[in-house]
Amino acid sequence: MRSKVVVGNWKLNGSLAGNDALVRALLREIPRNGAAACAVCVPYPYLAQARELLQGSAIAWGAQDCSRHDSGAYTGEVSAAMIAEFAARYAIVGHSERRTLFGDTDAIVVAKFAAARRAGLTPIFCVGETLEEREAGRTEAVLARQVDALLQSGGAGGLEGAVVAYEPVWAIGTGRTASREQAEEAHAFIRGRVAAKVQPNIAARLPILYGGSVKAANAADLFAMPDVDGGLVGGASLVAEEFVAIWRAAGAAVKG
Ligand code: PGA
Repeated sequence: MRSKVVVGNWKLNGSLAGNDALVRALLREIPRNGAAACAVCVPYPYLAQARELLQGSAIAWGAQDCSRHDSGAYTGEVSAAMIAEFAARYAIVGHSERRTLFGDTDAIVVAKFAAARRAGLTPIFCVGETLEEREAGRTEAVLARQVDALLQSGGAGGLEGAVVAYEPVWAIGTGRTASREQAEEAHAFIRGRVAAKVQPNIAARLPILYGGSVKAANAADLFAMPDVDGGLVGGASLVAEEFVAIWRAAGAAVKG
């Protein structure tokens, strides 16, 4: 059975003092021998703080994006190697906010995925359809396009050791969560696509997280589904009790 993972995505939130309080509250409740894995993806300037507070704990840390370039004249960019220097484990790539607000195309996302890999980071590769696409019955076509872009570039094993996050755009920050059946259907589709195009054993091991208005109140329901391997949590990751409860729900799903 795949283990469960809960990852917080702080987005453009935080301050040195606020992060300190939040992380210390998480550390009090998330022990090293917990049933589910846990991580937080923080804004770049807070990677040093995350390392200082979290090293040696059960909580890993990461960034929310990375440059597709390794170095050079790219003002404002942050390379995956720089992120890795802070002992980060993860870099989110292809988040829908990057895709829609900052022009990350499939090709750019694939290049960022490769850059994260080169630096030894575990990419969290986000995919998901908009409301318009779902209503037009195009959910699977969109997921297939996003997943295939990556598989075609990486060849066999492109997703080995990586994490996928299914985040329907209409559920992100809206309070509107996908039903557990909708989530399971999309996750099973993604896993099947990877199995068909790459190797079934890589697909079987691949953690596929659900993201989009995950909260303590709906986490257990979602995590009980066979292809939902945990969550990528935005808003609720900023509230310690909520995030801890979501992480506990993931642990309970492993045991149950
Ligand atoms: P949300 O965000 O939990 O606030 O909906 C999830 C995400 O965008 O990763």
